[in-house]
Amino acid sequence: MSLNSHTNFRIKPSRSILGKTSIPGDKSISHRAIILAAIAEGKTRISNFLQGEDTLTTIRIFQKMGVDIENDGNAVLVKGVGLHGLSSEDQILDFGNSGTSVRLLAGLLIAQNFNSELIGDRSLMKRPMFRIVNPLREMNAKISCTQEGTLPIKIRGGEKIKAIHYELPVISAQLKSCLLIAGLYAEGKTKIIESEVTRDHTEIMLESFGANIDISKKNDGTKIVVEGKKELLAKNIEVPGDLSSSAFFIVAALINKNSKIKLKNININPTRNGILLALDKMGANIYLTNKKFINNEKVADIFVKSSKLHGCELDGKFAKLMIDEYPILSVAAASADSPSIFKGLGELRLKESNRLELIKTNLLRCGCYCEIKGNDLFINPLNKTEVNQLNIKTDFDHRIAMAFAVMGSKIGNLMIQDPDSIKTSFPNFVDEFNKAGGKIIEQ
Ligand code: S3P
Repeated sequence: MSLNSHTNFRIKPSRSILGKTSIPGDKSISHRAIILAAIAEGKTRISNFLQGEDTLTTIRIFQKMGVDIENDGNAVLVKGVGLHGLSSEDQILDFGNSGTSVRLLAGLLIAQNFNSELIGDRSLMKRPMFRIVNPLREMNAKISCTQEGTLPIKIRGGEKIKAIHYELPVISAQLKSCLLIAGLYAEGKTKIIESEVTRDHTEIMLESFGANIDISKKNDGTKIVVEGKKELLAKNIEVPGDLSSSAFFIVAALINKNSKIKLKNININPTRNGILLALDKMGANIYLTNKKFINNEKVADIFVKSSKLHGCELDGKFAKLMIDEYPILSVAAASADSPSIFKGLGELRLKESNRLELIKTNLLRCGCYCEIKGNDLFINPLNKTEVNQLNIKTDFDHRIAMAFAVMGSKIGNLMIQDPDSIKTSFPNFVDEFNKAGGKIIEQ
């Protein structure tokens, strides 16, 4: 089923969620695979690439910069041009909805010989960019954004980039990755210190592309050092299934009766697996088998059975390990038998939408009492079993749309507004969900 921009989803209750679900490739890893392959020497084949709008944006941007990329709808072949082989007329680059593409590529564009202007859709144009612009200036980049710290970002090419030592003031994998990529072009060694763990896909992939990268973990955080001016070497990549996308099916199976699903080859990188830890705390029946490493990323098959969930309290450390999973975790919390508290969720306000507010708005509409105090979210169990038709507001945010589609599979009669955004990260969501026993009707 293909989505078009003017449809809504009507969700009816499911009997149960069953079977083997095919989860698309990981979004973060797909972006990074294209970026590093494009600036490596040699050809890279990326299999199980996520064919979502965000990752296709990354491909499109590199094609505009002269990289030969063939995409057969599953695998992608990238003919790398080396660190200094990108070419472009001065131009406007449109990053659509993709925060990861724009932030990671800003780190690369500061070191090119051409000028660029970076723009995006309505949501991306509002997202904070000072976090990357400020440190990139310290690296001698000629880069500017608006006074409010938003896109458009303008970059003047041809500058000599210098290495910096930088302690991340915002705990963000996108910021860390932006600076590591910029560091590939700098004279000397760029040192990044992160006081809390964030996803480390960039570091893992840089290592396998032969970068000189050194990672040391201490009590007060992790130090990552990357040496500039060393060419990367092409390396075939198999992208594992995306745990963030899996989370919608995991929770759907947990909260619907008589459900049982299996998801194969899912990334369970320990810097990303907070959702599994949180659901385990809530009493979920989730089993991991067939654990192995693919391209140094940990993967496993995930089995899930319907479970009686209990509320739980999560401190701010969890937020770093599962920031994208709070919308769906909140749906799980609403289905638990006791209250939950999720702390330290300030960054959730700065995603594709203000996710913290939207979780609250939509849970309240579903009859689930919840509150935001400061950056903490309090959720009481749902006190209704079925609702009359009501609208779910998504502000074009894919994760809000999918999380409340899952909610609808339990309580029924939800109308998800503007679900088209789902294409950014999970283009076959509706087909897979309906195949598993969900009832999503396009209207
Ligand atoms: C991502 C990092 C996270 C996450 C985003 C993808 C990445 O953002 O929310 O969906 O691929 O590096 P922050 O780094 O801003 O936390």
